[in-house]
Amino acid sequence: MDLETLYQPIASELDAVKVGLSALANTFHYGHTNTILEHFFQRPGKLLRPALVLLSAKALVDPLPAPLRERLVQTALGVELLHDASLVHDDVLDSDTERRGQATLNGAWGNKIAVLAGDVIYSRGFGLFTQALPQPLLADVIRLNEQMCSAEIEQARTLGSPLDRETYFRIIEGKTAAFMSVCCHLGASVAAEVNPNYLPHAFTLRRFGLAFGLAYQLFDDHADGDLNCPGLDGVTEGRRHLAKAVDLVSSLPPSPASLELSHLCSFLQEQNS
Ligand code: FPP
Ligand code: MG
Repeated sequence: MDLETLYQPIASELDAVKVGLSALANTFHYGHTNTILEHFFQRPGKLLRPALVLLSAKALVDPLPAPLRERLVQTALGVELLHDASLVHDDVLDSDTERRGQATLNGAWGNKIAVLAGDVIYSRGFGLFTQALPQPLLADVIRLNEQMCSAEIEQARTLGSPLDRETYFRIIEGKTAAFMSVCCHLGASVAAEVNPNYLPHAFTLRRFGLAFGLAYQLFDDHADGDLNCPGLDGVTEGRRHLAKAVDLVSSLPPSPASLELSHLCSFLQEQNS
């Protein structure tokens, strides 16, 4: 199983996201900003968050009507930019000098420039959301952003001390799972504009994203030796959340995209066994 196969139902929309990412570095009035962004975007990530937006949308409506498709591509690009901005800032916080096989922005240009470049990426993402999303979904993204930053504050505050279960889960939900949950909800909610009867499915996908995201971070923390929560077994707990994610997605009407969401769970499990 590989990501390209899993992303098959959304291949053309993801191509449009990749074009948007690589075009970004030529759109600023300041040459140096373009140079920095060109460095960053020459190594795109796995595009997991845009894929969650697009697969969740197509799990409900496939094919997508052209105007919705355009807004979903903008939303998918927006979540990737939000993710990228958070990584640029995260590398400053963690003093990491390498990511995706190349120098981080703080590694290459220092902390001041990296923080500002993260802000530029972040602003561009929000600009896309304001064009693509109705006000209630935009409010969701703003709340998500507050939650991510607050979770990072909590993580920084508690770094090095063993965490109780509640604090650990609040941090991983805030920094990772809430984002994946919102990605699924944004995609499904925009698609559900076609038919409001699909809205309950958007909430199922929101819960799917949360369970998937918790499993993702539990496995990641386990693999990195970062799971500092006595008595918590990251692999067992990750599998439990993944099983919940599979149950949720299998309650949706069958479609190629919902099948790939379920395969994405098997992929995550495979990568961590
Ligand atoms: C990676 O964690 C980082 C995150 C999951 C989120 C970081 C969020 C912020 C820094 C808040 C600021 C947000 C915005 C939108 C500007 P990790 O350090 O566990 O993973 P890694 O090994 O990939 O670095
Ligand atoms: Mg980090």
